[in-house]
Amino acid sequence: MDPHRSSISYHSRQSSYKRERDDNGRNPRENKHFRMNTQHQYRSESALGQNPLSCRTLSTRRELYERDFPVYKQPVEVGCFSLDSERRFFNDSRQMRYYVEPDRNPNFNLRDGYRDRFIKRDDSVKERLDHILRWIVANKSKINPTGAAASPRALDVDFVTWRGHLTKLLTTPYETREGWLLAVTRFRGTLYISEVETEAARRERENRTERHEEMMYWGYKFEQYTCADNTHSLPDPGGVVNTNEAFCTVVQTRLADHRLLFSGEVDCRDKDPKAPAAPACYVELKTSAEICTPKQRSNFHRFKLLKWWAQSFLPGVPRVVAGFRDQEGVVVSMETFHISKISHLIKNEYNCWKPTVCMNFCCDFLSFVKRVVTEDSHRVVYLFSWDPYKDVTYSAHRDSQYCFLPHWYVEEMMRSEDSQYEPKA
Ligand code: A3P
Ligand code: MG
Repeated sequence: MDPHRSSISYHSRQSSYKRERDDNGRNPRENKHFRMNTQHQYRSESALGQNPLSCRTLSTRRELYERDFPVYKQPVEVGCFSLDSERRFFNDSRQMRYYVEPDRNPNFNLRDGYRDRFIKRDDSVKERLDHILRWIVANKSKINPTGAAASPRALDVDFVTWRGHLTKLLTTPYETREGWLLAVTRFRGTLYISEVETEAARRERENRTERHEEMMYWGYKFEQYTCADNTHSLPDPGGVVNTNEAFCTVVQTRLADHRLLFSGEVDCRDKDPKAPAAPACYVELKTSAEICTPKQRSNFHRFKLLKWWAQSFLPGVPRVVAGFRDQEGVVVSMETFHISKISHLIKNEYNCWKPTVCMNFCCDFLSFVKRVVTEDSHRVVYLFSWDPYKDVTYSAHRDSQYCFLPHWYVEEMMRSEDSQYEPKA
């Protein structure tokens, strides 16, 4: 029996988690690392209400999060959507691809087609949560099966976000290079979390070297070598790689008392029709530099496997298929990593990352957000900011450049809420 798996076996920790709670439903340990900050970190652009007792910062120090693994419910796929070659939204699975297992030593040339068969998504265009919000508008009944009678909220979840934003939160206690900015708006009781590009990330994006640009293509090219468009066809390495195309799963789950709805891109699925239902049939594809020395193996365990684990654990994707490439961009070997076994693989590394630290930090960050983000308005954004070796801080902004809920979404949610209260004819 896999001990890590049992500790995260979704419901099994619930009772111990409950035991840690006081009568107010608050985890008494939660408050330890919220510190009062006497500096003026709450820069309000207008008179937003402030609770003087609320804590202003959140520590990201690893040792504060080394406690029992929190309850993380088995993620349930509630829907999916596709983005086509022009990044248009479709409320269906038309972009789903099927994994075709390659040879153990496949010799895929990842450089092929970079110059002449590559259409790159414009990553200066910020889509924010728009695709997820489109999915919500098209599928509201799937999220609120009981309708308004059960809850006064427009949506019966606490948080809506991208899986990638949650991955960043999970890895924060171990991140030493890149900070983040997360914009949060409370609207009809639900907290929407949308990333804002940091100045440092923008500079890096605008100044990528040609080598870096090409290496970013390699991961997509690997997907093309290993994925077919339907269950009966084979991959087409002679085709065009277009990174506008995406298939995204939408999952619902719960982390401790946080009900989450998030979406993430899925590379492909098992083509066996008898494979388990989504998300258990999904496969994440990755490339990585070939491992030739013990130092390289150790770095792979400490840094790469942390990112791979966090990304796939969140939506319940059970395996990562990795292609290891040489310096020339040729895939020389393949290996499958089962997410539930990664914690065993890393356990001999000295001072290595721990899944429980990742999940507890994420959980405490979401609690922090719930406490801070009190004003319910699509016109207000609370901006949470973090840089390596610092605490998380925040500022509040009304009617600012950071507002991210589109008018069409706000109007649709208000309209459907109103119509629920209209007397039936
Ligand atoms: P690799 O992960 O194999 O390098 P994902 O694995 O998340 O499905 O992403 C697919 C590919 O997109 C990556 O393949 C990589 O080529 C590119 N990519 C994604 N995020 C990136 C990032 N932050 N920086 C550079 N490339 C990235
Ligand atoms: Mg991938």
